[in-house]
Amino acid sequence: MREKLEALKREALDRISAAGDLNLVNEIRVMYLGKKGELTGILRGMGSLSPEERPVIGQLANEVRESIENGLNSKTAALKEAEKYEKLDRETIDVTLPGRTFNVGRRHPLTQVMNEIKEIFLGLGFEIADGPEVELDYYNFEALNFPADHPARDMQDSFYIGDGVLLRTHTSSVQPRVMEKKAPAIPVKAIGLGKVYRRDDDATHSPMFHQVEGFMIDKKISFSDLKGVLLIVFRQMFGEDRQIRLRPSFFPFTEPSAEVDVSCIICNGEGCRTCSNTGWLEILGAGMIHPNVLKMSGYDPEQVTGFAFGMGIERVVMLKYGIDDLRLYFDNDKRFLAQF
Ligand code: DAH
Repeated sequence: MREKLEALKREALDRISAAGDLNLVNEIRVMYLGKKGELTGILRGMGSLSPEERPVIGQLANEVRESIENGLNSKTAALKEAEKYEKLDRETIDVTLPGRTFNVGRRHPLTQVMNEIKEIFLGLGFEIADGPEVELDYYNFEALNFPADHPARDMQDSFYIGDGVLLRTHTSSVQPRVMEKKAPAIPVKAIGLGKVYRRDDDATHSPMFHQVEGFMIDKKISFSDLKGVLLIVFRQMFGEDRQIRLRPSFFPFTEPSAEVDVSCIICNGEGCRTCSNTGWLEILGAGMIHPNVLKMSGYDPEQVTGFAFGMGIERVVMLKYGIDDLRLYFDNDKRFLAQF
C-alpha cells in the first residue's frame, strides 16, 4: 500500500507539472482527489489493514493528499498569473496610433452670413424683428400696398394655404407687423431675416430661400439716409473699396423705388464673368416707404418718412464664397458644408 501511495503521488505530481491549462488541472484534481478519485479509492481499502499499519498508512495518505493539493494549487496560481500577462501582451496599446477625430459641426454658410448681417445692423442701432413664415395675406400683400388683384402680386408666385393665408413671399411682411405695434412712436429702425417661399425651382431659384428686410422711420428720413446706411453695410460685408449705385425701379410699397447695385466684389468694378462685364452686381431692392403703407400701419406720412430695402441672402453668400449653384445650399452634403 505504501508503494501504491508513493507511486500515485509521483504520477499525480508529474501530471500536474506537465499540465498546461486550468481545465487540465481541474481534471487532474477530480481524477485523484474527487469522490471517485484514485486516492479516495485507496483510502477505502484501508479497512483491510492491521491496526498497527492503519495510522501509519493514514498519515502517509494524508501527506500524499496534501502534496497533490499543494501541487494543484500552486499550478493553478502559476497558470492564472501567466494568463494575466498573456492578456496584457494581447492588449498592448500602441501609443503612436493617431487618436480618433471628433466630427465638429458648424453653422450653415447662410446662417453665418445672416449672423454677420445682424451684427452689422445691431452696430447701427437697428433692432431685430420677427414675423411668421405662415403669413396673412394682409401683411404679405395688402398692408404693403398690393391690393387684391394688383398685377404686382404676379411677381411673387405664392403658396396659398387657405383663405387669406400663405407662406410669406418676402420678409417685407415684417414691416407692417413692426409698424402696427410701434405706431406712432419714432424712430423705428428694424431688420427682419428669415425664410421666404415662392413657386420657383431651378438652378438659380429655390422654392424656399432667405431674405433680410430693413427699414427706418423717423422725421425727415431721406434717400440719402438709405444710401448712407447701405454703403456702410456693404463696406463692412465686402470690404472698404465697395461703391454702390441706385437705379430707378418699381415696388408697390415704396415710392420712389430703386434697384441697388454694389461694385463687383470679384473684379472690383473692372468687369468679369460674375458681373457680366458691367462691373456691378444687382443686389437688392429699396425705396422710400410708400405713404399708403405708412398710413395703413398707423403713421402719418405728413409727419414721418422712411426707407426700406430687401435683399436675398443666398445671392450674397454665393458672391462672398464664389458658389455657383444654389442647390448646394440645401443638399446637406458635408463635403460642401465643411468648407465654411
Ligand atoms: N420684397 C421685395 C422682394 O422680395 C424686395 C424689396 C424691394 C424689399 C424693395 C423692400 C424694398 O423693402 O423697398 O422682391
